[in-house]
Amino acid sequence: MNRTFIIYAILISLFITTLGFFFYFYQQVQIFDKKLEETNSSETRSSKHHFVLIGEEMGHDYWRLVGEGAKKAESRYDVVVQYEGGPKRSNPDEQLKLFDMAIKSKVDGIIIQALNDEFTPMINKAVKKGIPVITIDTDAPESMRSTYIGTDNYKAGQMAGQALIEDTDGKAIIGIVTGGMDKDNHQHQLRLEGFKDTIAQVEGIKIVAMAESNLSRVKAEEKAYEMLTEHDDITAFYGTSSLDGMGIVAAANNLNKNDLYVMTFDTLTENIRLLKKGKIDAIVGQQPFEMGEKSIEIMLDLLTGGNSVQDVYQTNVTIIRTSDLPLKGSERMGLLD
Ligand code: BGC
Repeated sequence: MNRTFIIYAILISLFITTLGFFFYFYQQVQIFDKKLEETNSSETRSSKHHFVLIGEEMGHDYWRLVGEGAKKAESRYDVVVQYEGGPKRSNPDEQLKLFDMAIKSKVDGIIIQALNDEFTPMINKAVKKGIPVITIDTDAPESMRSTYIGTDNYKAGQMAGQALIEDTDGKAIIGIVTGGMDKDNHQHQLRLEGFKDTIAQVEGIKIVAMAESNLSRVKAEEKAYEMLTEHDDITAFYGTSSLDGMGIVAAANNLNKNDLYVMTFDTLTENIRLLKKGKIDAIVGQQPFEMGEKSIEIMLDLLTGGNSVQDVYQTNVTIIRTSDLPLKGSERMGLLD
């Protein structure tokens, strides 16, 4: 066993790893193209337009609803929608890869959640190649996208702050669990800024701890648990993504903290169940189904000169408390049952 052998061994493993990566990426492109071909040939041979919609996380209830909205629009118009729920777990780099594949496949329109600054050049690349882009759920306002469809995330944060002030009579010591704290994460930054700016106007409210859940329920629980053990005086939690509330409630249960005020995002079935039980106090309700549906309609109008194209199509945000149950009308659109 000498140095030459070790060097050869390293070189060979490097070669194999590179080959592995290359093969993986090549396979992904093939799968993507195959899906596109299948949608083209089987669904509607006569369809004129092919759109790709890329979400944040495959199998996530929120993104499933976005997909259902898009598919509803697909059934009404002469289009084919290739719905990519997103990577298995939230991963902006993987999302960007799917985005790049869609550009390479020369689809007619791309609908994408623009989670951070890295999406702007990719959006511009698509537009320069003649593919219009709509941002959904999270915007890239500096990019060349045509329209943003979704929540005004700053306003949603403000509404959350206002509701918390009202529900706690202006007295609360707050822990925040946020999907992502990275300064580039547009959505959670805005939800935090809106919230902080609003509660800053009230003296009796202060934030003592903040941590990131990475959109994972387990991580939200772990972080809330840590916060509650380090800050015994926390009386309220603000969770900025769908699964944060569930994690916070689980941590509170473990520590027998039964009188915490909990606010979270999205009317997922489990959140509604916890709201009914009084474990969650308020939910910031968004309209994922409508986002998906509108994104297809507006993309079609973009290509056919229709009149619904606008810079921003804002979907409704509501604060939902136990007294608002059962949900009615458009609020039910966000509900999975
Ligand atoms: C956000 C989505 C996110 C989802 C997952 C929602 O509140 O709007 O962007 O993917 O939560 O937790």
